[in-house]
Amino acid sequence: MKIGITGATGQLGKLVVEQLKRKIAAENIVALVRTPEKAKDLGVEVRAFDYNKSEDLQTQLKGIEKLLLISANEIGQRERQHKNVIEAAKKAGVKWIVYTSLLHADATTLNLAGEHLATEKDLKESGIDYTILRNGWYTENYTASIGGAIAGGAFIGSAGDGKISSAARIDYAEAAAVVLAGENYKGKVFELAGDNAYTLADLAAELSTQTGKDLPYRNLQEEEYAKILESFNIPKGFANAIASWDISASKGDLYDDSGELSKLIGRPTTQLAASVKAAL
Ligand SMILES: NC(=O)c1ccc[n+]([C@@H]2O[C@H](COP(=O)([O-])OP(=O)(O)OC[C@H]3O[C@@H](n4cnc5c(N)ncnc54)[C@H](OP(=O)(O)O)[C@@H]3O)[C@@H](O)[C@H]2O)c1
Repeated sequence: MKIGITGATGQLGKLVVEQLKRKIAAENIVALVRTPEKAKDLGVEVRAFDYNKSEDLQTQLKGIEKLLLISANEIGQRERQHKNVIEAAKKAGVKWIVYTSLLHADATTLNLAGEHLATEKDLKESGIDYTILRNGWYTENYTASIGGAIAGGAFIGSAGDGKISSAARIDYAEAAAVVLAGENYKGKVFELAGDNAYTLADLAAELSTQTGKDLPYRNLQEEEYAKILESFNIPKGFANAIASWDISASKGDLYDDSGELSKLIGRPTTQLAASVKAAL
């Protein structure tokens, strides 16, 4: 029984392969990747797999029984790309697809939700067994700004007092590996998020403690935050998107207290302090 993992050279995908190798034999894992030369060190079979090359996907899925479809990263193209994979999986006889969606995809104001919801619908209508992992924010999305915060003397954002239940990528990767290696998760939709919610002011306070510097949180209007991001050479469209995600965060869209992620992985999710330390 072979398990295929798409996006296996990505930051999440690599960790899933690593975690799954601890649970099942490496020869039963297939990395389905857009860039095979990046996959040499994964220690599993590698097959070329580009979501855009719909004509090749069915052949590349031969013998795969379970598939982890890691959502693509080209915003605006993903519904079509994921559909290509689901259609090929159906033709190739894949029995079960696990998909990485978005926390509260059916209720959130995050502008990322549409593509994820469309893929969830395509999956449900495909007739293939499915499990949906509605992943919350990665803590790394915020700790990536630590260098800028130290350089600028403040942690900036537009998330106000919004509580953020992020978790580390490793937590979501472990959850995916648990589901892929198990048999009891078919038809389930998991809302996955960190155990301990924090605000960006809490994050700045933790950063101040660990660095010994006074780094307050400075909340900005959405437009101002986007402009500052642009001044760091982030393309305008992406800068606007990041600022809009913080506005969603301010409305509580990154918050969840279900504890489903820690239940699934059988341990507490990674603490904010540990993620800050790792980033430093
Ligand atoms: N929950 C969150 O906070 C959060 C944050 C960011 C993204 N995400 C979503 O979660 C996914 C995984 O996160 P990540 O951090 O691992 O992202 P990542 O490091 O950007 O990895 C994305 C992976 O998707 C692969 N990919 C992109 N387009 C593809 C295509 N056309 N065909 C085949 N593979 C393709 C990439 O292949 P290459 O290695 O060849 O580039 C890469 O391996 C992202 O793609 C995105 O949908 C979630």
